[in-house]
Amino acid sequence: MRRSLVAGNWKMNGSRKSALELATALGDVIFEKTDVVIAPPTPHLDAMRSALTSADVLLAGQDCSEHEKGAYTGETSVLMLRELGCSHVIVGHSERRQFFGDSDQRVALKVSRVVAAGLIPIICVGETLLERQDSMTEKVIERQVAAALSQIHDKAKLSMIVAYEPVWAIGTGESANPEQAQKVHLLIRDFLSKYDVVLSESTRILYGGSVKSDNAASLFAMPDIDGGLVGGASLDAKSFINICRSTA
Ligand code: PGA
Repeated sequence: MRRSLVAGNWKMNGSRKSALELATALGDVIFEKTDVVIAPPTPHLDAMRSALTSADVLLAGQDCSEHEKGAYTGETSVLMLRELGCSHVIVGHSERRQFFGDSDQRVALKVSRVVAAGLIPIICVGETLLERQDSMTEKVIERQVAAALSQIHDKAKLSMIVAYEPVWAIGTGESANPEQAQKVHLLIRDFLSKYDVVLSESTRILYGGSVKSDNAASLFAMPDIDGGLVGGASLDAKSFINICRSTA
């Protein structure tokens, strides 16, 4: 049985004050059925870590460098994220792919850095609206998953998390409906079974793209949707907690 997981991706939003407020709000809540991960902006990780000491909430980086260290101005290494208390790192988010040139190859290198540091990658995949309209969804997803797994060994694959985030649903308020999302989640699970049946059965596959308090439960009720990667709705403590409590 896969344990569900909900991750909040703040993107480049929120102040130190709002980070501390969320940490305080989460500190009072016990999440029995789900693992909860928060990815605040990197500068707030330290404050979140201190404020979350009593809570059962994990921290994630929103991205990382594909390099270990060196002259890469502006970048954050996986080892730095680990020092800041992260257990997870989001890799291959569509905004990184779209605005910062993260190719499949670069995503694969980042995944291997995350794994080598002993952290868990949350690997994002998803098709654009144009690709969906051209019936390319399956091809795009399989290509992205295969590339992301290409640089890591079999044991590491077992700890990874995949997030299916259709690009057309991110930040648009137009979520995929549960059946649409389930179809792609099953496709990903079937694809993983080509590597290994245990991997396919045990990998948690999250849905992301306009998850809100009022649609989370119906999405999470689908058999192959193991939780969510939540953007906008994770900025508000009440709605994020509601979403975390909506897991099946
Ligand atoms: P959204 O973002 O929930 O605001 O659509 C999801 C994401 O990009 O991870």
